[in-house]
Amino acid sequence: MKPTITIIGAGNVGTYVASGITEAALALGKVTITRNKSPFSSEEKKRYVCLRNNKTAITKAKVIIIAVQPKQVDEVISSIKSSLTAGQLIISVVSGASIERIKMLVGRTDVSVVRAMPNVAIAVRRSMTCLAFDGASKEHKKLVEIIFSSVGKTLVIPEEKFPQATVLVGSGPAFVAKFIRLYMQAAIQAGFNEHEALMMVEEVVIGTGLLLSTSGSHPEVMIDKVTTPDGCTIAGIAALEHEGFGAALLKGIMTAILRAKELYAKK
Ligand SMILES: NC(=O)c1ccc[n+]([C@@H]2O[C@H](COP(=O)([O-])OP(=O)(O)OC[C@H]3O[C@@H](n4cnc5c(N)ncnc54)[C@H](OP(=O)(O)O)[C@@H]3O)[C@@H](O)[C@H]2O)c1
Repeated sequence: MKPTITIIGAGNVGTYVASGITEAALALGKVTITRNKSPFSSEEKKRYVCLRNNKTAITKAKVIIIAVQPKQVDEVISSIKSSLTAGQLIISVVSGASIERIKMLVGRTDVSVVRAMPNVAIAVRRSMTCLAFDGASKEHKKLVEIIFSSVGKTLVIPEEKFPQATVLVGSGPAFVAKFIRLYMQAAIQAGFNEHEALMMVEEVVIGTGLLLSTSGSHPEVMIDKVTTPDGCTIAGIAALEHEGFGAALLKGIMTAILRAKELYAKK
């Protein structure tokens, strides 16, 4: 039996989750979405039940996805608290809000709370989404995996690793975009225009990612495949290593993880 689904906070993430769920026909009836002040487009009004009142929006929902900004979560939960009913499932994509905190705000034990960390590639249904469960039923866990599988891939992790997931998955597109920007700059220096440079690097990144994920190969195997002794690739790779590319990337990611841990500790 499909569940009725409501998304509170149909912004960047919430809207794409609604779209993925609708395209994959995962919900019973139309998905309900809410927003605070931003308008709903006529397309959205046709596709979803669009409401301003969160309390009304959750009355018939089996699954409630909370996708508001961290500072809005307390207000949102207190606005729906009195209308929650036993057996409902809350999925929070709110960065930094722990399951324990959401449960404390909800104030009841008969509502399950699950945490999800997607990324912006949810817009093209290629989000890597990390999930953490704490006491959710088997049925609820399966449901959450089905929902996020409709917009990409899922990985269940212990909740303590959410600061790491925030950076590796949530911030990940920024690291990759930085790499793409620099690769593009090299292409421009090598005589290509901006359009050609961007197209080349995008296709190289997408193609390499797809090749790795479909073949299941280790990246070193890929490097070996495109490297010939005394050739240009090995010369370039060696220069990158001599210039500290590996060390800089590791330091960048680990610094971001430390910062995420600091920020999470303040919440
Ligand atoms: N963007 C990412 O890459 C990413 C990745 C992983 C996790 N996250 C997390 O996901 C959450 C949402 O991020 P986002 O980028 O989608 O934010 P966003 O675009 O700012 O969306 C927030 C939405 O919440 C709505 N909202 C605010 N107050 C509300 C209320 N009282 N009732 C109902 N709706 C309300 C806003 O409506 P109005 O526009 O009308 O104010 C807006 O539609 C955040 O906690 C973020 O940390 C984001």
